Amino acid sequence: NKPRRIGVHSTNSKCLMISSDELKKQAALAALEQVEDGMKLGLGSGSTANHFIRGLGALVRGGLSVVGVPSSERTATLARAEGIPLATLEELPRLDLTIDGADELDSRLRLIKGGGGALLREKIVAAASSRMIVIADGSKLVDTLGAFPLPVEVNHFGIGATTAAIADAAAELAMPVTLTRRLSADGSPFVTDGGHAIIDASFGLIRDPEALSLALAAIPGVVEHGLFIGLASAAVIARPEGISWLV
Ligand code: 5RP
Repeated sequence: NKPRRIGVHSTNSKCLMISSDELKKQAALAALEQVEDGMKLGLGSGSTANHFIRGLGALVRGGLSVVGVPSSERTATLARAEGIPLATLEELPRLDLTIDGADELDSRLRLIKGGGGALLREKIVAAASSRMIVIADGSKLVDTLGAFPLPVEVNHFGIGATTAAIADAAAELAMPVTLTRRLSADGSPFVTDGGHAIIDASFGLIRDPEALSLALAAIPGVVEHGLFIGLASAAVIARPEGISWLV
């Protein structure tokens, strides 16, 4: 896949195109500086988190001692290949730091996550961590959440009723919504690591994420949703002009 070009960076009168993937890597490497010897780390999922895991792997091979708890099977596979020692939340119920990407974040560090379908484990791992640092390229930072459809992980049982209840919750909040069952690349229904389905909910702009979060969490059949509120303590944003921290 050809990387998407999103910016122009001018250095020493040379004009360099910076891909979104390169910016994701820069954010990941900046967050790597927060890792200390002996830390218990939550490992996020997605292409930005993968850059962090590859960087962490290099440090581990150089002698850094950390333990990681992966937030998805794909992350576990990559971390093992990188030689990062892994544990479960049964073994390590409290973590020092989680580093993860996001599909969107706002200036109050409220997130939409789950574009990769790992939101349930990602949220459990983040909630078990003293700190969560979000790593993202600048395109992920928005004024108001909602352009990215909100992933909602649901039980297969009663999926029709759960979908109707999500629509009812949106109506109660006077929000328009379009609900789409997520499919895999081969057209079959997408199944999460936990064996559930995902409904992608397009609400347009989410002006009150807290209210939506509470309403979705109250629906039987909703296993978890992708609004992460009060979990992130900081974000590293990489833009063509440079790195900035949001705290
Ligand atoms: C996976 C996630 C990812 O963090 C999110 O989708 C961002 O992905 P990427 O880093 O590939 O842009 O929430 O469930």
